Amino acid sequence: MSQQHLAAPADETAVATVAQHRDWWRGAVIYQVYPRSFADSNGDGMGDLEGVRARLPYLRDLGVDAVWLSPFYASPQADAGYDVADYRAVDPMFGNLLDADALIRDAHGLGLRIIVDLVPNHSSDQHEWFKRALAEGPGSPLRERYHFRPGKGKNGELPPNDWESIFGGPAWTRVTEPDGTPGEWYLHLFAPEQPDFNWEHPAVGDEFRSILRFWLDMGVDGFRIDVAHGLVKAEGLPDLGDHDQLKLLGNDVMPFFDQDGVHEVYRQWRTVLDEYAGDRIFVAEAWTPTVERTAHYVRPDELHQAFNFQYLSTDWDADELRVVIDRTLDAMRPVGAPATWVLSNHDVTRHATRFANPPGLGTQIRTEGDRALGLRRARAATLLMLALPGSAYLYQGEELGLPDVVDLPDEVRQDPAYFRGAGQDGFRDGCRVPIPWTRTGSSYGFGTGGSWLPQPANWGELSVEAQTGDPHSTLELYRAALAARREHPSLGAGESLEWLPAPDGVLSFRRGEFVCAANTTTTPVTVPSPGRVLLTSGEVTATGTETTLPADTTVWWTTA
Ligand code: NOJ
Repeated sequence: MSQQHLAAPADETAVATVAQHRDWWRGAVIYQVYPRSFADSNGDGMGDLEGVRARLPYLRDLGVDAVWLSPFYASPQADAGYDVADYRAVDPMFGNLLDADALIRDAHGLGLRIIVDLVPNHSSDQHEWFKRALAEGPGSPLRERYHFRPGKGKNGELPPNDWESIFGGPAWTRVTEPDGTPGEWYLHLFAPEQPDFNWEHPAVGDEFRSILRFWLDMGVDGFRIDVAHGLVKAEGLPDLGDHDQLKLLGNDVMPFFDQDGVHEVYRQWRTVLDEYAGDRIFVAEAWTPTVERTAHYVRPDELHQAFNFQYLSTDWDADELRVVIDRTLDAMRPVGAPATWVLSNHDVTRHATRFANPPGLGTQIRTEGDRALGLRRARAATLLMLALPGSAYLYQGEELGLPDVVDLPDEVRQDPAYFRGAGQDGFRDGCRVPIPWTRTGSSYGFGTGGSWLPQPANWGELSVEAQTGDPHSTLELYRAALAARREHPSLGAGESLEWLPAPDGVLSFRRGEFVCAANTTTTPVTVPSPGRVLLTSGEVTATGTETTLPADTTVWWTTA
């Protein structure tokens, strides 16, 4: 596969490159922007599209290939925009369609691609279809586009089945019918404000293919598909029975997740996408039980990439990492899809904080832990990730080494799962705090009107301004690593690696002219030097023949 990366942006040349370059995504580094927390252009304390547009040169200089934007559509924001009321409109808090158009154009002018978030599993309860379904009452054809059911029990007072919402509580809410009586129930795998679509109804598929075309016509380069594994539910919506849903989630096929029928939807979507020029892509957010099942989503006639949540969920441990890396590459090779790697996103505790805490705590962590340790490991983990074959996803602020903000006061929290309790998540606000651009000033350069979540007092020290030009900073480490990937496209290319012998707790592998070693142990290790040191996540000691890696350190060598 061709692995040339985009040339350094130069206006029209860059536009042409964006249009022509094929298979750009196989080794791409894709940066997630969480629009409400990236940059605020109008001083209302909330990030917006114009803020993102103004910072595109920063992303170009960082060296990423594409930007994935979390939802900015018209939405009551019951789940930070993952509750969409109008899929073809921009929410006024983020701007308007002209701003989206300007953002896409400017990005292309800089040689960056734009991936937008598509939320097909559920809409907002303020979506026109759902509002009409409620208003028209039982028997309305609009109710067939969602999952409305009569309740169980003598008077229909019990939910239709035993499924629980991912955010906690029952996955069903009973409606009050237009005549004021308690009536049917509707399914919502997430918050009650997020009713699930019924993908068995042809109008739903038609509508989403039309939405795809709307944004493809706007010029977007791809879609991140929210809850890609959830669209199709098991026939008859069967009870889970005597099972602990929380334990099963992510470990087993559920009657509402990862049903085989979902793949037909993506085959249809692929034919739509392939009508468009420009090598556009789909990436699936599919929390499946195994990487092998994830691979089903990226068969040649389906989607292009799927997030590797098994990798994201792996502790900083050489043996465990090696297993997940091998399994990923082995699962993706037969379907011809690139592996993807990710350490952080807007739903999990930032990896600088995960690695600051003892292993085995999962991806939702409430304690700060040892920050220096977490940062050291986060830097090492990033260099390891960026040496693996395939595409890598970065989450805004990780290039600054930001920790999660674990001490947000309860009164500022907005994560819907927090309010429903006992859910899988609930503390996602900590990774969503607006990022710092400057050392001082209103909201550290995020905007002129404060920030929708309070930023910690030390945020300025972690800002882009404070880290720029400091060779020891995390920002400069990311810039150097991404520059190396651009200079040596083979770093992200291919579908395999060659493991090299290494001491316990150390991962070492060769990728063509590059060798990477990561010391995940708590003590220094000395290994033979395979070549010239190219980049390191911490201070190493290199003699001509040996290199000593301190604890939690990754090194890249080149043998060229
Ligand atoms: C996954 C998104 O990443 C998350 O933020 C959201 O809450 C759920 N899907 C529901 O849309």
